[in-house]
Amino acid sequence: MLILGIESSCDETAASVSENGRTILSSVISTQIEEHKKFGGVVPEIASRRHSENILGVVKQALLESGKTLEQIDAIAVTYAPGLIGALLVGVNFAKGLSMATGKPLIPVHHIAGHIASNYIAHENLEPPYLCLVASGGHSHIIEVLSYTEFKVVGKTRDDAAGECFDKCARSLGFPYPGGVHIDKASALGDPNHYVLPNPRVAGSRYDFSFSGLKTAVINMVHNASQKGEEINKNDMAASVQKTISDILTNRTMLAADELGYKKIVLAGGVSANSGVRSSLTEACRQRGYELYMPPLSLCGDNGAMIACQGYYNYQAGITADVSLNAIATLSIEKL
Ligand code: KG4
Ligand code: ZN
Repeated sequence: MLILGIESSCDETAASVSENGRTILSSVISTQIEEHKKFGGVVPEIASRRHSENILGVVKQALLESGKTLEQIDAIAVTYAPGLIGALLVGVNFAKGLSMATGKPLIPVHHIAGHIASNYIAHENLEPPYLCLVASGGHSHIIEVLSYTEFKVVGKTRDDAAGECFDKCARSLGFPYPGGVHIDKASALGDPNHYVLPNPRVAGSRYDFSFSGLKTAVINMVHNASQKGEEINKNDMAASVQKTISDILTNRTMLAADELGYKKIVLAGGVSANSGVRSSLTEACRQRGYELYMPPLSLCGDNGAMIACQGYYNYQAGITADVSLNAIATLSIEKL
């Protein structure tokens, strides 16, 4: 079965063709990062406009590179939630138009389910159930993946997402948007124990995260140092931030895995590209003898392949939509 997957929830316009779920025939990503960099973050209206301009070309290119024609495609999958509403609407309306014009089924895909599915592309033996840590620019969740289409959120951030924390700390250190990757690079040259940063306890759910206290502490330390005419060592601060975020994500995930009885752990989302998060999870799973699956760096960020892959599993489970499908800015993965 051939699925065309379309993604436009944030600042990447992406499309891909998957065959029987896990085989990716093409994956085209048009990123807008350079343009949003000037503003220090994604400007929603600019994102929507660029998606509108790029989507036809990206989809045509994905078909071309797959060696398949639109006629050969069996169904059209699209990210419909969550994300920037104006950005999502471009992909959703394009997919609806294509579905109407061709008579092919339309498959709604939740963006986070897509990130999780990036692991199915990379690991051919991976099957649910397992416990997944999803950390991206907009989300930080610990999710019980019960089946390909059934999810239970057992932990989540109370405030900022891990990626947002990386980006805001990076910004205060003078790194360009998106700063996560710059923190990662600078970390390699710094001492992770140089700065002592807060690792907050969160009341309530044992598996929830909180990153806003860490972000504020870093911003205040940088600000206070500059007022006193002192220098913050960027590499040491980057390494300290990365270690703190990695420890928080790893500790909560391992606590959930130990208590809920999961020995199969999966990582997903843009922050899964972070070397500190990858190595701390690898070490924690090695100590416990747990299996760990992580996406390759090429599939960590937003892409169409993960949507085309998850689209296949949604279709198998009977999850399709008609042309009344709408984009939704905020939607739990449990409601997919
Ligand atoms: O999944 P994603 O591409 O978009 C969302 O769905 O939000 O995630 C983007 C986030 C950004 O915050 C970006 O800084 C972060 O992932 N990120 C990283 C790294 N690469 C991307 N954070 C830390 N280290 C990295 N190497
Ligand atoms: Zn994403």
